[in-house]
Amino acid sequence: MSAGATSTAARGRPLVRHYVGTVEEFEPDRFRTFEIEGRPVGVVRTAAGFFACRNRCPHQGADICAGAVSVGTMVPSQPMQYVYSADRCIVACPWHRWEFDLRDGEGIQGITKKRLVTYAVEVDEDGRVAVLMRGRKGAGS
Ligand code: FES
Repeated sequence: MSAGATSTAARGRPLVRHYVGTVEEFEPDRFRTFEIEGRPVGVVRTAAGFFACRNRCPHQGADICAGAVSVGTMVPSQPMQYVYSADRCIVACPWHRWEFDLRDGEGIQGITKKRLVTYAVEVDEDGRVAVLMRGRKGAGS
C-alpha cells in the first residue's frame, strides 16, 4: 500500500482509499492523472461531481484523460431533430472521439461493448479527494 492510502473492509480484496489532492487542486473539467498501484488513473471534477477512470481508452489504448469532458451529449432522435441530454457525464477520446460515460464506463450509443474502467471517488469533510480501488490480488492487507 502506498503512502497516503487507507484500507476499508470489503468483499474479497480490500477497498483502498488513495488520496490524490484537495478539491481546490482540481480545475473543472480537466483531468489530473496519477499512477496508483501501477495503474494510470485520471481524476476529474465536473459540475456533476468527481469521477475517476483508467487513463486507457478501451478502443485502441489512447490516453483518454486528454479528451474533452462534458456533462451531457447528443442522443438519438428523429431526422432533423437535435436532442441534447444532460443525464450523462462524458469523456470523448482524443483519438477517434468515441464517448464514454464517466459514471459507469459505458460506451455512448452502443459504440462498443467494451467499457472504460471507472473508480469511485470520495471527498471527505476536509475537502480531500480519494480514489477507491480494490487492492491487488496477493497484496498484503
Ligand atoms: S483509441 Fe479511443 S476512440 Fe479510438
